[in-house]
Amino acid sequence: MHQIKPMAIIAPSLLAADFLHLGNACQMLNESEAAWFHLDVMDGSFVPNISYGLPIIEQIKKTTTKVMDVHLMIVNPEKYIADFKKAGADILTVHYEACPHLHSTLQQIKAQGMKAGVAINPHTSVDLLKDVINNIDVVCVMSVNPGFGGQKFIEHTYEKVRALKQIIKNANASTLIEIDGGVTENNAAQLVAAGADVLVAGTTVFKAADPKQMITTLKNC
Ligand code: DX5
Ligand code: ZN
Repeated sequence: MHQIKPMAIIAPSLLAADFLHLGNACQMLNESEAAWFHLDVMDGSFVPNISYGLPIIEQIKKTTTKVMDVHLMIVNPEKYIADFKKAGADILTVHYEACPHLHSTLQQIKAQGMKAGVAINPHTSVDLLKDVINNIDVVCVMSVNPGFGGQKFIEHTYEKVRALKQIIKNANASTLIEIDGGVTENNAAQLVAAGADVLVAGTTVFKAADPKQMITTLKNC
């Protein structure tokens, strides 16, 4: 039987966009084949960098009907679940390392009508998600240490993606696997082959000569 190659969901990260012209970046994404907007929130505490927060996300939401994929790199994310829903998040991703009561936090996210995501740092084993995998809509596998765009992809990620795919299959779950950090047109195909469903790309998209074309290239990898 002819096997149809799965096509990745592309989630460009606006962290790499020109903040003086965010509206133009949103318009470009709306015209592109990107299905999700990836929005990185950093608090200078969970990660050694500060990005942007609720008011910016609220403005971006007004420009698009695409999926707002909000990645919280903050401590105590459970305090802000209702606020991010109000700002326009469709998917709210919290870090495993920031959530002592992860199961409860996931339930709270879903209670607000959002999809629930869990991000794991490079040192965090996918095995730790086994007991909650059926409660997770998206696992965001960090392929760099969170905090900055433009870093080098960590090769061990492939192994983690394959192991995570197996955990999802064994649990009969419909969890998506998202890869975040250092994604380029040179590793996209291999990531999808390993089991990735969603590719986040900041630098690769926004620093490309033709960002829209780059999104298409990543999608068709
Ligand atoms: C890193 C962020 C990423 C970042 C990716 O902490 O979570 O989403 O924007 O940037 P690139 O694609 O440039 O590695
Ligand atoms: Zn991110």
